[in-house]
Amino acid sequence: MQPLIEAVHEEFVPYLGEGKVADYIPELAKADPRNLGIAVATVDGRVYSTGDDAEPFTIQSISKVFALTLALGKVGDDLWRRVGREPSGTPFDSIIQLEHEHGIPRNPFINAGALVVSDILLSGYQPRETIGQILEFVRFIANDETIAIDPVVARSETEHGYRNRALANFMLGFGNIEHAVDLVLGVYFHQCAIAMDCRQLAKAGLFLATGGRVTHRDTGVVSTLRARRINALMLTCGQYDGSGDFAFRVGLPSKSGVSGGLLAIVPGIASVAVWSPALNKQGNSLVGTLVLERLAERAGWSIF
Ligand code: DON
Repeated sequence: MQPLIEAVHEEFVPYLGEGKVADYIPELAKADPRNLGIAVATVDGRVYSTGDDAEPFTIQSISKVFALTLALGKVGDDLWRRVGREPSGTPFDSIIQLEHEHGIPRNPFINAGALVVSDILLSGYQPRETIGQILEFVRFIANDETIAIDPVVARSETEHGYRNRALANFMLGFGNIEHAVDLVLGVYFHQCAIAMDCRQLAKAGLFLATGGRVTHRDTGVVSTLRARRINALMLTCGQYDGSGDFAFRVGLPSKSGVSGGLLAIVPGIASVAVWSPALNKQGNSLVGTLVLERLAERAGWSIF
C-alpha cells in the first residue's frame, strides 16, 4: 500500500494548481492549491500515508457523514420523515427543490439536509453541548483526542454563511426546522470547522469499512445494516451533482468537502482520505478525485 500511494501521489503532483479553491468563505480562500495529502486506514488497524498527510484542514461537508451517524443513533429511522434519501442533482447549497418539496431536503448531504440533521441533534441540548457531542464522537471513532474545531474558520463561515441562513429560514417556514436558525447554524458551522489531517480522517471513516465497528476497541458504533445504508447514501449523494460520475469513475461510497477533502470507503478493506484544496465544477476536490480514481483502479477497489 505505501509504495502504491506514493506512486499515485507522484503521478498527480504535476496537476496541482488545476481547479479553483473555494472562496465564498474568506478563510477557505487562503488554502494553498498545491497541497496534496493521502491516507489509507485498513481494517486491520494500519494507516499508510504520504504527501501533506499531517496538515490539518477543516473537513467541511465530510462532517455531514458523522453528524448523520450521530443523529440516526439519536432518533433512528424517524430522521427520514424530515430528510429524503434521493440524489439531488443540484449543487450542495441549492435552494431550488426545497419549495417544490415542501421544505424536505432531498438527502442529508446537501446543505439543507445537513441543517435539518443539526436541528435534530440540538433537541434537548444547548448548541455548545451538541457541538461537544459531535466533536467527542469524531474523536472516539478516530481514536484521537487531539482533534479540534478551527474557531477562525467557524467564525468566517458564521459571518458569510448567507445561503445557509436562507436555507434554514426557508425550511423554518415549512416547519422543518424546530430551533432558532442561529442555533442550528452555530452547530452546523462548527461541525464543518472540525480540523483533521488525512490520517485522522481516514481513521474516523474506518467504522464504515468494518460494518460499523471501531478497530481500536472491540465495539460497534453502528449496526452493519446502518453502516451499509450510510455507505449507500454516500455513493448516491456524497458528491452532490457529481455523484453519478464519481460512482462511474471511482466506484466507491464517498463524501467531499469544499476545503478539498474526500473520504472514500472500501467496504471490508479500508477508509481513504485525500485532500487537495482546488475544486472541480461540482465543488469537489479536482486532484483528489483523480487520485481516488487511480488508487481504486490500481488497488482493484470497487463496490461493483
Ligand atoms: O455549508 C457550507 O457552505 C460549508 N461549510 C460546507 C460545504 C461543503 O463542504 C460542500 N461540499 N463540497
